[in-house]
Amino acid sequence: MAALDATLANYLLTRDSAEKERLDGQHIYLKKFAYDDRLVYDRNVELKAGSSVLDSGTGTVAWLLDLAKEVPEDVELIGVDVSPNNFPDAANAPKNIHLSLASATNLPKEWSNKFDLVNQRFMLSALLAAEWPQAVSEIFRVLKPGGRIQLCELDPRYPLEKPPALERHSEILLQGANKRGLLRYCAKELPGMLRNAGFVDVVDDAKPCPVGKALGEWGVRGATGGPAGAWWNMKDALVEQGTIGSAKEYEDLLEELVKEWDEKGIYLVTRMICATKPLES
Ligand SMILES: C[S@@+](CC[C@H](N)C(=O)[O-])C[C@H]1O[C@@H](n2cnc3c(N)ncnc32)[C@H](O)[C@@H]1O
Repeated sequence: MAALDATLANYLLTRDSAEKERLDGQHIYLKKFAYDDRLVYDRNVELKAGSSVLDSGTGTVAWLLDLAKEVPEDVELIGVDVSPNNFPDAANAPKNIHLSLASATNLPKEWSNKFDLVNQRFMLSALLAAEWPQAVSEIFRVLKPGGRIQLCELDPRYPLEKPPALERHSEILLQGANKRGLLRYCAKELPGMLRNAGFVDVVDDAKPCPVGKALGEWGVRGATGGPAGAWWNMKDALVEQGTIGSAKEYEDLLEELVKEWDEKGIYLVTRMICATKPLES
């Protein structure tokens, strides 16, 4: 499967084995801290025989593979991404998981009104500001009336009081995102975007995620495998675009960050943003 080249250049992360491993670890961490130990955040969503679920920007397919363990085999589980690099070997995936290449901004035309649930997670380093409303309206189109959207994104406004290295790092990531045309504060905008697209019953929950040794084993996992772990894999893109002077300068800053977290852990905030496509729209 060849990647959809046009959309690859925006991405701030790598697609190598280290990032694949981090995404799989991040899935376990987010399930615990963002999804309240569930995969389907809204307790009212019932997936039964004949239901269809989409994971848009599915990456390593970790969320769908986990979901496949708890829904009936005749629930159709579909994942799309612009790159197949992180897809698991098809031979090892459950038969009801179907993976294909498509952009979140341009889902297949024949999928209108098809899905009961669409999950889309951690696309803040992938979708351009102008693409976000398009991705939201594509999810609206492909959901069945009454279907549910669940989005999970980092909200980098938090912690409000940032220690010095985190403050500097946040500024660098904002500059890097702006240079690419990404929407660093997408989490803040998403509830409004969902309403504009026609969604109702919008839920917007802030989920604190521990980072740093001072916060125990999950804090260590948050620093390496969680959302903060992604920052290590942004080095090449940030150096290449000139947002940071050199790889060494960035590595030194990351070392400072870890020192800060080891002394006093921090809580990054992830948001669960869910809504319903009305029965009549
Ligand atoms: C940070 S990863 C998150 C993967 C997965 N959602 C998760 O939470 O583990 C972002 C993924 O979005 C994909 N991506 C980037 N631009 C995309 C687009 N326009 N449409 C669909 N996927 C895209 C990347 O290839 C990558 O796999």
